[in-house]
Amino acid sequence: AIAYRKPIAAAVARGAAAAAEGARQIKDLVMGDAVVKPFLKKHSKALWSAVGLLALDAVLWNAGSHLLGLFLDAARAAALAGTGFSMTTLGPLALGVAAIFIVSLFTARANVLLTGLVKNRLVRDLRVALNRKVLRQDMAFHLANESGALATRISDDTESLAEKNVDARLPLVNAVLFFAISSVMMVHTSWSLSMLVFAVMPFIGVVNGWFGSKFEQVYQEFTKRRADLGRTAQETLEQSQTVKVFHREEAEVARYAKKAQALVDVGEKDAKLGANSHMFASSLTDFFTKHSLYILGAWAVALASGMTIGQIAAMTFYSGFIKASFDSISGAWMKYKQTSGATGVIRGWFDLKPGVDDAPDAKVLPPVAGDITLEGVGFQYGKEGQPILNGVTLDIKSGQTVAFVGESGSGKSTVLRLVQRLWDPTAGSVKVDGVDIRTVTQESLNRQIALVPQDTRLFDESIRFNMLFGSSGVSQAELDAAIKAARAEFVNDARLFPEGLDTKVGEGGARLSGGQRQRVAIVRAILKKPAILLLDEATSALDKETEAQVQAALDDLTSGRAGRKPTTLVVAHNLTTIMNSDRIVVMDRGAVVEVGTHAELLAKGGKYFALWQAQGR
Ligand SMILES: Nc1ncnc2c1ncn2[C@@H]1O[C@H](COP(=O)(O)OP(=O)(O)OP(=O)(O)O)[C@@H](O)[C@H]1O
Ligand SMILES: [Mg+2]
Repeated sequence: AIAYRKPIAAAVARGAAAAAEGARQIKDLVMGDAVVKPFLKKHSKALWSAVGLLALDAVLWNAGSHLLGLFLDAARAAALAGTGFSMTTLGPLALGVAAIFIVSLFTARANVLLTGLVKNRLVRDLRVALNRKVLRQDMAFHLANESGALATRISDDTESLAEKNVDARLPLVNAVLFFAISSVMMVHTSWSLSMLVFAVMPFIGVVNGWFGSKFEQVYQEFTKRRADLGRTAQETLEQSQTVKVFHREEAEVARYAKKAQALVDVGEKDAKLGANSHMFASSLTDFFTKHSLYILGAWAVALASGMTIGQIAAMTFYSGFIKASFDSISGAWMKYKQTSGATGVIRGWFDLKPGVDDAPDAKVLPPVAGDITLEGVGFQYGKEGQPILNGVTLDIKSGQTVAFVGESGSGKSTVLRLVQRLWDPTAGSVKVDGVDIRTVTQESLNRQIALVPQDTRLFDESIRFNMLFGSSGVSQAELDAAIKAARAEFVNDARLFPEGLDTKVGEGGARLSGGQRQRVAIVRAILKKPAILLLDEATSALDKETEAQVQAALDDLTSGRAGRKPTTLVVAHNLTTIMNSDRIVVMDRGAVVEVGTHAELLAKGGKYFALWQAQGR
């Protein structure tokens, strides 16, 4: 007797859990997403109007059906009495039906327009909000999420989120009302025939529940593969030059085709599910609600049970409405499950907080002199990463130029990233003018820092746009002066750039040479009048002649000839470019191993000396 109690108890517990989960999901469908609420608030007038129209629609159609039944019976009575079509009895009924039909045409039209309008605007707002959210995330987030996949999710998954909150929810109003009103009308017309219709409802419910969970899984997979497809396309297109040079066009197309096929594979699963759910949930119940109702109704009429043909006709309408409302509710449920699957990832993003963020009590960093202090800085990328920096301690005075040298991977660029607070150190602190940079707003810190990276990527906008990026209120005279100081006069060469500063630079700046791009970056840095200047191998991608030009511009910048004299941290492989620095920091596997001037370090005969010799000096 004990043996079967356990499985029964387990089954009951499972059933209760499933019921609770089902109730949660129904609530989720009806209430919509908390993250979307603020966006829908703006459209509450339009939404409530749509709700009102949907309610009106349900009332109108049921009233029309009732009138039709009365019309039929009146017509039959007229036939039996031999009075023919009488305008006084039949006319008002016919006119009533026609009027209701015409009004319902307009309510339906208005409703479609309103819903479409709200949805389009909602999609726009969600896209903008998500774009902002994603751009605000820290480097760790961007390292973990490829830009192509992010772009696809921002443009496509937001549409699913709008569907989940508008298209899946609004028809419920209509369906529930239709169901309620038609049920009352039907039971009122014939209690016994109504039971037949109601008997098939639980069956549809179970079937829909089963299909719904399948749809959700399929859609999760679908959006994942769609994002992957977007990522692959973007990656290949961005590197079109590499693809060409290595003659990998067909191979890349094949890689894309494989991902496109992967999307089709889930698409087919979705289509199959759709076909099956239609067959079971829709077509089969059609038979039970319409055809069998007619047969049983005819039987009831033949038995002279008191039922009239008009009532049977009205019953068919009511059961049709009930059936349609059930279809509509299951459609909403399927859409809910599909869009739940499709939006799981981006719904999570709305609550994301960047790991590197302004502290709640962050202060504005006032204009600084530019002292930089690193105190026992330790760092690693990500939680599981290798330690990249170990106890780096440095004291850099305002206006000094400090060079970082060392083997590739020793952590030089990482130090610059920590000074810009792209990442936070895992141990120790970075201070500017004695203030821990974690305690100030990122905006006020970054406004005072300029970076010239090794390889500048530009926006596909005008040269002017790229030069002014990050500065505001720059006059033409200031811009011209900066262009001169940066040796960037090439922009004035009308043969090269007929449109001058208004020339669009192509994706990433592809229409400019490497040296030209670097000088655009230097103009950008000069205009920012930074207190702190970071140069990360700014000339290493250039040929000797261009390097000399760019280096001269950089020397002007660091020495203060092009404006204020910033504190400069410079990373360089070519040691001749940094031999005049105030101090040289030699790094090895994340630690500072030597610090001194060029002469001091050569005299020491250590690591720097070895590097110097390796460069054939
Ligand atoms: N985003 C990242 N995630 C994980 N590891 C990283 C990341 N960026 C850099 N690293 C690792 O950190 C170490 C230091 O990198 P860093 O770019 O600071 O070196 P570097 O001294 O500037 O080298 P190079 O002279 O080649 O530019 C390297 O081993 C690198 O693999
Ligand atoms: Mg580097």
